[in-house]
Amino acid sequence: PRKIIIDTDPGQDDAVAILLALSSPDELEVLGITCVAGNVPLPLTTRNARIVCELAGMPETRVFAGCDRPLGRDLVTAEHVHGKTGLDGPTLPEPTMPLQDQHAVDFIIDTLRAHPEGSVTLCPLGPLTNIATALQRAPDIAPRIAEIVLMGGAYFEVGNITPTAEFNIYVDPEAAEIVFRSGVPLVVMPLDVTHKTLVTKTRNEAFRALGTRVGIAVAQMTDFFERFDLQKYGSEGAPLHDPCVTAYLLAPHLFSGRHINVEIETQSALCRGMTVADWWRVTDRKANALFIGDLDADHFFKLLTERLARL
Ligand code: BDR
Ligand code: CA
Repeated sequence: PRKIIIDTDPGQDDAVAILLALSSPDELEVLGITCVAGNVPLPLTTRNARIVCELAGMPETRVFAGCDRPLGRDLVTAEHVHGKTGLDGPTLPEPTMPLQDQHAVDFIIDTLRAHPEGSVTLCPLGPLTNIATALQRAPDIAPRIAEIVLMGGAYFEVGNITPTAEFNIYVDPEAAEIVFRSGVPLVVMPLDVTHKTLVTKTRNEAFRALGTRVGIAVAQMTDFFERFDLQKYGSEGAPLHDPCVTAYLLAPHLFSGRHINVEIETQSALCRGMTVADWWRVTDRKANALFIGDLDADHFFKLLTERLARL
């Protein structure tokens, strides 16, 4: 199996992304889950990550606490989307599994140094603070990373936290800039693709119909998420952003995109965190990311539902 580290700020959609990874041990070995402040503050993201591991029946998964704020800015959170706890919807027990003592950034650095070059993939699902801190502190890890497959940014779909920025990049644009300039191969799941993964009523019912604790909890999570988005966007259902990352690792053929240059706006107040993506290749700036634009949503949900049924 491919070795991965999931860097996350759960979040209902982060939770589903984690469940998808944990349900796929033949393909993915989750070396650890590193938490960052984002959707909610760090004490809640570390709590929620452990709740999800216990829900999956895998309390032996190692969960680490990372950075509690962006590199140089105040933390912006998203309780308006995810609820007070970040994981509103289902009623799940408080976690009893331990949080690891080691700092998430040290875990990322040590793990990359301990494994053969090119054998560990990073999967960031939140602001890029932990990953950027690791790259800054230990530049030798950059060539050791197989790939970074992340959820963040937007181009045609513009923004969801400001008119021009997607939440994960907006929260810590300086961290994003470090990652996008790192030279590490990047696969980026922007809103352009995640807004195509809509949890319609039928898809939500398919989760519930699994009849398992996991299936019902995922239905309740995506229900909660949906109420907010329906009001705001009037769309058919809520987008399942972060699971695009873990689904890509399992079934890359469901996704398509372009190798292009993507730069991060860090200077402007108006456009903070904008991902300036050269989709039409109008500059000669070097491609630094595979920017995903489309996916086969029906097969994505089929894969997700089948895998969740295994937990
Ligand atoms: C991203 O922001 C968070 O609210 C979600 O978990 C996802 O990672 C979408 O913009
Ligand atoms: Ca997230």
